[in-house]
Amino acid sequence: MIVLGIETSCDETAAAVVGPGVGGPGQPATAVLSDVIHSQEIHARYGGVVPELASRSHADHVVATARAALDRAGVARPDAVAATAGPGLLGAVLVGLCFGKALAAGWGVPFVGVNHLEGHLLSPLLEAPPPPWPFLALVVSGGHTTLYLARGLGRYETLASTVDDAAGEAYDKVSRMLGLGYPGGPVVDRLADTGRPGAFHLPRPVVRDRDSRAVTLDWSFSGLKTAVRTLLEEHPAAPADDVALAFQEAVVDVLLDRVQRAAAQHGVTDVAVSGGVAANSRLRARLGALHDQGALRVVLPPRSRCTDNGAMIAHAGRLRLLAGQVDPLDLAARASWAPGS
Ligand code: KG4
Ligand code: ZN
Repeated sequence: MIVLGIETSCDETAAAVVGPGVGGPGQPATAVLSDVIHSQEIHARYGGVVPELASRSHADHVVATARAALDRAGVARPDAVAATAGPGLLGAVLVGLCFGKALAAGWGVPFVGVNHLEGHLLSPLLEAPPPPWPFLALVVSGGHTTLYLARGLGRYETLASTVDDAAGEAYDKVSRMLGLGYPGGPVVDRLADTGRPGAFHLPRPVVRDRDSRAVTLDWSFSGLKTAVRTLLEEHPAAPADDVALAFQEAVVDVLLDRVQRAAAQHGVTDVAVSGGVAANSRLRARLGALHDQGALRVVLPPRSRCTDNGAMIAHAGRLRLLAGQVDPLDLAARASWAPGS
């Protein structure tokens, strides 16, 4: 089954075509035939995504992006169309969702609405070798930071999530505090390269259960962001790269702490990481070290597959379609939506 996938939930207009994989042990069941991304540059000058501008830009670019994905795959008419139906900026989601439905109606092929988070969560299955079920799925992006125990398609148990900011959001806010650009993740990541280890230390916040006061697996990133603000107030001359390094070490430490504790608690050592923050060089290096030591078996998609892309939507849609799901053409967009629900 050849599927066209469309993604417009935030500031990336993306489309991709996927089809059957080559098959065989250790090989992904789905192959990516094309993957086209148009990143909206317009938001950089505002220091964050402006929803109305995002919707308008999606409307300007979605047709050409989908056409390019079909052309590069050499496909005139796919067997089905998948589009992100949420969660995300509603006006932005609606552009790709309505376009995807219109294409499916015009071609007379099935349509499926995809949960953006499920797209990220399942994207490591596109790698060779794919993670075997059950696996721990860390989805760490600009809008979400959640650790799932993925038991099978659509069967995701939430083990941990952030009680306030997402990790990517914290990167974006810290970047703004340092007077740097948007998106902040790649800038802070690069800056941390030249920071001096140990120049500053930031807290590793924990979240306690309200009744028992026991430490949970959840994250809190807003305290860390406040700690950076306090550090900058107390040390106005602090070199930005030292601050970036201290912040990044704290983020990576708390992410890996929860993953390792969840792995021990649930006896699951396969870990799949996805979402924009999975492109972070320090997180990737530390995960790679855990993998090499044999502590965890980590599947980490290439950087371009971590940030928003069309392949993850086409892939999740294809798995849903193969499992028998087809959505009606009046499917509504959803601003919030837990994957698997
Ligand atoms: O998955 P994504 O493209 O969009 C959402 O679904 O949110 O993630 C975007 C987020 C942004 O907050 C961006 O700053 C962050 O991922 N990000 C990074 C890196 N590259 C992107 N964070 C840390 N290090 C990076 N290298
Ligand atoms: Zn995303």
